[in-house]
Amino acid sequence: MRTLAETPPTTLTEQSFGGVGTTVPHDSARQHVMGTARYVDDIAEPQGTLYAAVIGSRIAKGRIRSLDLKAVAAAPGVVALLTLDDVPGHTDIGPVFPGDPILTQSDIRYAGQPIALVAAISEKAARQAALLAQIDYDAQTPQLDAETALANQQLLRPSHRMQLGDCATALQQAPIQLSAKMQVGGQEHLYLEGQVSLAVPGEDGDMLIYTSSQHPSEVQKLVAEVLNQPLHKVTVDMRRMGGGFGGKETQAAPWACLAALMAAKTGQAVKLRLPRKDDMVMTGKRHPFVNRYHIGCDEQGRLLAADIEVIGNGGHSPDLTDAIVDRAMFHADNAYFLPNADIRGHRVATDTVSHTAFRGFGGPQGMLIIERAMDDIARHLGCDPLDIRKRNLYAEKRDLTPYHQQVEFATLQRLVTELEQSSDYWARRKAITQWNNGSAILKRGLALTPVKFGISFTLQHLNQAGALLHIYTDGSIQLNHGGTEMGQGLHTKVAQVVASTLGVDLQQIRITATRTDKVPNTSPTAASSGSDLNGKAAEQAALTLKQRLSDFLAEQQAVPLSQIRFSDNQVWWDDHQSVTFAELVQQAYLARISLSATGYYRTPKIWYDREKAQGRPFFYFATGAAVSEVIIDSLTGEYRLLQTDILHDVGKSLNPAIDIGQIEGGFIQGMGWLTTEELVWNAEGQLLSNSPATYKIPAISDTPPIFNVRLFEQANAEATIYHSKAVGEPPLMLAISVWSALRDAISSLSDYRISPDLDTPATPERVLAAIEALKKQQEAS
Ligand code: MTE
Ligand code: MOS
Repeated sequence: MRTLAETPPTTLTEQSFGGVGTTVPHDSARQHVMGTARYVDDIAEPQGTLYAAVIGSRIAKGRIRSLDLKAVAAAPGVVALLTLDDVPGHTDIGPVFPGDPILTQSDIRYAGQPIALVAAISEKAARQAALLAQIDYDAQTPQLDAETALANQQLLRPSHRMQLGDCATALQQAPIQLSAKMQVGGQEHLYLEGQVSLAVPGEDGDMLIYTSSQHPSEVQKLVAEVLNQPLHKVTVDMRRMGGGFGGKETQAAPWACLAALMAAKTGQAVKLRLPRKDDMVMTGKRHPFVNRYHIGCDEQGRLLAADIEVIGNGGHSPDLTDAIVDRAMFHADNAYFLPNADIRGHRVATDTVSHTAFRGFGGPQGMLIIERAMDDIARHLGCDPLDIRKRNLYAEKRDLTPYHQQVEFATLQRLVTELEQSSDYWARRKAITQWNNGSAILKRGLALTPVKFGISFTLQHLNQAGALLHIYTDGSIQLNHGGTEMGQGLHTKVAQVVASTLGVDLQQIRITATRTDKVPNTSPTAASSGSDLNGKAAEQAALTLKQRLSDFLAEQQAVPLSQIRFSDNQVWWDDHQSVTFAELVQQAYLARISLSATGYYRTPKIWYDREKAQGRPFFYFATGAAVSEVIIDSLTGEYRLLQTDILHDVGKSLNPAIDIGQIEGGFIQGMGWLTTEELVWNAEGQLLSNSPATYKIPAISDTPPIFNVRLFEQANAEATIYHSKAVGEPPLMLAISVWSALRDAISSLSDYRISPDLDTPATPERVLAAIEALKKQQEAS
């Protein structure tokens, strides 16, 4: 185990090696801080660049009766308009399933739906002109409720079911039965950099797209399709995003397509950057869910059967909803063995934006229901929730998931035990109970919750990656791979892998923009698998080059290959004799040896039979646990998070500083989702929480004053890149400990006899309502 304090970062200047396992800063850390890191909007624009603005629907549901854009066209500075009739190719840009019209002329399915695009000589001119559109609508009342949608069978995709054992019988025979239902809120991505694309037309129909996207290959494909061009005419360039969080996995593409269509129409470069309010209104969010459980357990609180139903609200179109609800189902067990399980997942349609990927990809929503069950069992039996959780953790002979994958439970067990001790759980529990007895209004709460998160795309073919590595004649190296950088430090980690493989300083390696013309047919950077996949692909490319250089040196020095070693910017052929890496490269070049190579990787061992709902969808599980302590004001519902202790399993860390950053950031983002971030649509389907003023993300002051984050550093049992584990999404779910601690504090008002309903986000308003409901329930009994 180590913390950041125990591994102080090397500064850029004193940084020499910086290979795998070292705490080197993010490759753009300096530029991020100095403001010199370039994002799409910072790229020098070609002469004559036009600026586009979207004309979106003002109603959420209905039809366009008439569309009059004359005033828009006549507005100062306007150069061109684009409507559905101008699209030469595909008009549906649904990423996996159809359902996402690029523009609409008739049916309206959500507020803000794009109807037309206007291009002008300045951003201001375009945005002002867009306001002049005269549109008459036949408005209908939107249907926003997920349960109504399910009752009406308004489904985006068929429902799915996973079963283990005989749930119905086990449930019937269980001595204790409990059931509950809860609403789980969605979440706005609020990436610092909003959606933006710059389309630059080239000769002969070529199109170059700079876009803030997690999925350049998909943007390439969709742009080619709307333009009715082959993919080889479209190139997508992506240096970095100012955050993606899943919001730019599929939903960066519409804006890239619109910019490209306008660029093709006008022959000029076109930039489309959504103003923040449009971004919040026009793009999908984390799926809101409605979850239900009906469980049976024994007198010790051990689960015997779990009947779980999750309803994911996908908005108007499928987008990624199918896979997201699957992932919610895959995580409805979280870290617990359900000996008999029946898990059903629905994907319902409502009249809002199409909800999309968000860190955890449905996993967090699925986990909440079983964590809620753990607390409810504890209250029912008068036990501490931690005891109930420990009794239900995956264990020996109790290690099969509802989808029949075996769980490596030892890590999970050890991790929870270690955190229980290092956080001083039981002493604090005692102190809190005492403190609460002496405090009438303020109440404290404590909770430890584990996380087990499956790593791999559940869509199997996405689990592949490519890389391209060039060594130049001065020994400097250019690295390119299919992954995208959104702040998570992927490029740094992959460069560290190459540095370690070739035994050269990290500074020798230059990471370039992700481009579809360098590495083709790539997967989105998502499912936390960026470094797992691209790290391996880059390693393969580096190993190929290492082999070529080794063969050359072995022949030159007449030594066996086994004697050749790459380290300290040298290549050694025995313990004393070496040549510098740069010198060897120069000699190899003169000897006509290729110094450029591709690398490729696909994840082994994974399979899933969706018909049977059985298989091994995940290569391995990332695990972690958190203890959170809160204090609530029982008169107002206000609360503070006082302390959080995290122990998180990253395997052998590729870079402890970056991993700890991901854990801290993921936790705080998860806390925002579960506490203050509330999406509000009115009955007309308009998003009221449409700006940072009406949507509250955590501020730095919301960080717990005591925040202990430790890495549980134990080599991944699977042969991942340097036996590391993915870290991008799993820590978000550690924040469930905050929600559980809030319920614990509320429950203290009933002497821990009542388990309060507390839907998420658990805003102070909801906490107060839960307290009031609990008091009423007490009076009634
Ligand atoms: N960290 C930062 N700083 N910014 C981001 O946008 N996205 C998260 C996570 N961490 C994100 C982030 C999400 S949703 C995923 S899937 C992973 O990073 C993707 O990157 P990785 O696969 O390289 O971990
Ligand atoms: Mo992350 S939600 O898989 O982009």
